[in-house]
Amino acid sequence: MTTKASVGVLGLGTMGANLALNLADQGGQTVALFNRTTIKAQELADANPAFAKSLVPTDSLERFVEALATPRIIILMVQAGAAVDEQIAALKPLLDKGDIVIDAGNADFNDTRRRAAQLKDSPIRFVGMGVSGGELGARHGPSIMAGGDADVYAIIGPILERIAAKYQGAPCVAHMGPDGAGHFVKTIHNGIEYADMEMIAEVYGIMRDGLGLKAADAAKVFTRWNAGDLASYLIEISGVTLAEIDPDTGKPMVDVIVDEAGQKGTGRWAVIEAQKLAVSATTLEAAVSARIISAHRAERARTGAIYDLGATEKLTGVDLDALEKALETAKIIAYAQGFVIMQEASKTFGWNLPLGKIAEIWRAGCIIRSRFLDAITRAFDASETPENLLQVPEFVKRVKAGQGALRRVVAQAVLAGIPVPALSAALAYFDDLRRRRGTANLIQAQRDLFGAHTFRRLDRDGVFHHEWPPV
Ligand code: ATR
Repeated sequence: MTTKASVGVLGLGTMGANLALNLADQGGQTVALFNRTTIKAQELADANPAFAKSLVPTDSLERFVEALATPRIIILMVQAGAAVDEQIAALKPLLDKGDIVIDAGNADFNDTRRRAAQLKDSPIRFVGMGVSGGELGARHGPSIMAGGDADVYAIIGPILERIAAKYQGAPCVAHMGPDGAGHFVKTIHNGIEYADMEMIAEVYGIMRDGLGLKAADAAKVFTRWNAGDLASYLIEISGVTLAEIDPDTGKPMVDVIVDEAGQKGTGRWAVIEAQKLAVSATTLEAAVSARIISAHRAERARTGAIYDLGATEKLTGVDLDALEKALETAKIIAYAQGFVIMQEASKTFGWNLPLGKIAEIWRAGCIIRSRFLDAITRAFDASETPENLLQVPEFVKRVKAGQGALRRVVAQAVLAGIPVPALSAALAYFDDLRRRRGTANLIQAQRDLFGAHTFRRLDRDGVFHHEWPPV
């Protein structure tokens, strides 16, 4: 081999293989390949003769490292967790000062922070990078959230810009901040994705069980909505999936698919981190919980048999326009929660997350891509960073116009016994947040009674304890 490879991909599962092809194709890179099951590297090269000149399969870690030009850029795309630590440990003695190791897997950002700290004084420059968009994204253009030091990003950024998705020509990649910032933002992206999908599924449930729409009719509604304010990849694929017919039975595909949702855990991570940061993420929580309940199908069948309440009340005052408005409003609220989590994390970890930029790079390549994100970018690009998107004039207008519909939809669904956990969580958060006199005064009184936890008063400064009557 005369010229050395400009980048290496270690881990050639679905994501790694697609990323390697993207790097060779759109990226214009010469890509060294290595995989634990070594034959996969040669197989990938053989299967893609069009990139024969730019794919360099290797059959040992040593040869992989040797195949790379310095400073080496190595993208790890192995299973998240122990495999990443193992591969870093194996690479470490083979690498030179300034070599860059990028973990592009779905890492827990806490692990990324730990790894960044462990590698701080080593020759390796470590980058934790969130890659969103699934296998198609990896191959044709993902949304990329890079962490690590800014000077390392200056080196890898130009390559990432070439392989990233483009939104009106702008690459969907940016530097999020040091250590775990990239993986954290990816985690919150997934949490928002859970909430967005659950809300869409709840609205589909109302169409199906409350309004009696057949899948094909619901498909038409989503397709129509995709031309309006809700336009997004998730609304688009809702229309596509609902319209699809099962070739075996002639029934709509969605009607033969088991109603149990899978999950890989990133939604749960988002919720856990929000809780640790003491930020409300109720729409995300509701979405994770709904997936959990969905997976308990046998238990639902047994409970359903006990509580068969007969015919439910008919929905009144809920038409498709109200559903559209309700979904849009709840979506704004869910995204507001997602961005508050990131704002809080940014402060806590000293990241200075580029919030407007995050909305910008989510406009293409990733699952929650939508035009709607433009408005979020505008909100964070304004001179003053908003405390909460719900206070930004553009969203205030939309929420004021849509909250009545959300209220009606949630109320009618509840009366009809149709579960709407994420939509109602959005509404409850909204009502809680705009309630100037809450009810935690009673909680504080109770805490003071049973634990002398003290309370503050409205009419004077200080911390107080009251001698409550004995109970
Ligand atoms: P995918 O990318 O297909 O979604 P994944 O499970 O996240 O799947 O990652 C699979 C990749 O991680 C494979 O390249 C796998 O190597 P093998 O082909 O040898 O199975 C790699 N991988 C998993 N555990 C690993 C480990 N402990 N060390 C090195 N590579 C590992």
